[in-house]
Amino acid sequence: MLPTMRVIVFASQKGGSGKTTLAGHLAVQAENCGAGPVAVFDMDPQGSLAKWWNVRSADTPVFIHSEFGNLAQNLQQVREKQFSLAIIDTPPAVTRAIAEVVDFADLVVLPTRPSPHDLRAVGATVDIVEAKDKPMIFVVNAATARARITSEAAVALSQHGTVAPVNIHHRVDFAASMIDGRTVMEASPNGRSAKEIAALWEYLDLRLAKLDRAVLTSSDGTFGGTAAANGAGRPVPAFGRRALSQNRA
Ligand SMILES: Nc1ncnc2c1ncn2[C@@H]1O[C@H](COP(=O)(O)OP(=O)(O)O)[C@@H](O)[C@H]1O
Ligand SMILES: [Mg+2]
Repeated sequence: MLPTMRVIVFASQKGGSGKTTLAGHLAVQAENCGAGPVAVFDMDPQGSLAKWWNVRSADTPVFIHSEFGNLAQNLQQVREKQFSLAIIDTPPAVTRAIAEVVDFADLVVLPTRPSPHDLRAVGATVDIVEAKDKPMIFVVNAATARARITSEAAVALSQHGTVAPVNIHHRVDFAASMIDGRTVMEASPNGRSAKEIAALWEYLDLRLAKLDRAVLTSSDGTFGGTAAANGAGRPVPAFGRRALSQNRA
């Protein structure tokens, strides 16, 4: 039997929420923490993660050229090559293609900026992830220190599911480090941004380990952790839902 390879998909319909930034940073951090080998996939036709990787001088993580139609096959290939983690970046749109990528996820990470506009937009992505019954984690990204909207955002998001207990703050080094293919850990290893990414990876790694245990203990062979991880079963207010589903409700 092949060793387990975990798949994390970064998704959110909102452009600029931090999918590509966090996908690249967490891929490098996972590799640094021994959770690799890590394979990264860029399913966004804009190719921001691919461009980052192309100017990167480090050998890891490994970039896999893939397209929607080949993703299943390419994931199977990296699984066979004994990769431990696949990280998939997706385009900022709600399309059938995104739903297909989410199909492969063991965990979906939904980065969200703490702004009313971004918060209102999460519903469509949440709908996709919930329809696929996948565990998901919100990450508040580009937060401003001590701003009330950050904690308000976390509270609002928690109505829909689990929010990572680590906020990623808005700092120039997140953007600047990626220009030449690096990450904040490589640009300033002792900086606050690097510490946030380390803490975020530690948390996600723990969630993945919990998912493993849930699978092992599930008596009927189905995934046992979804309800708890998604917060399913709790009443969820209409906040952030698509106007269409609100009208139907
Ligand atoms: N925490 C952050 N601090 C500062 N800039 C950020 C942060 N996260 C993302 N950015 C910047 O915001 C822009 C959009 O981020 P990106 O990761 O490309 O979002 P997405 O992939 O969701 O469209 C980029 O220019 C990126 O450098
Ligand atoms: Mg992107």
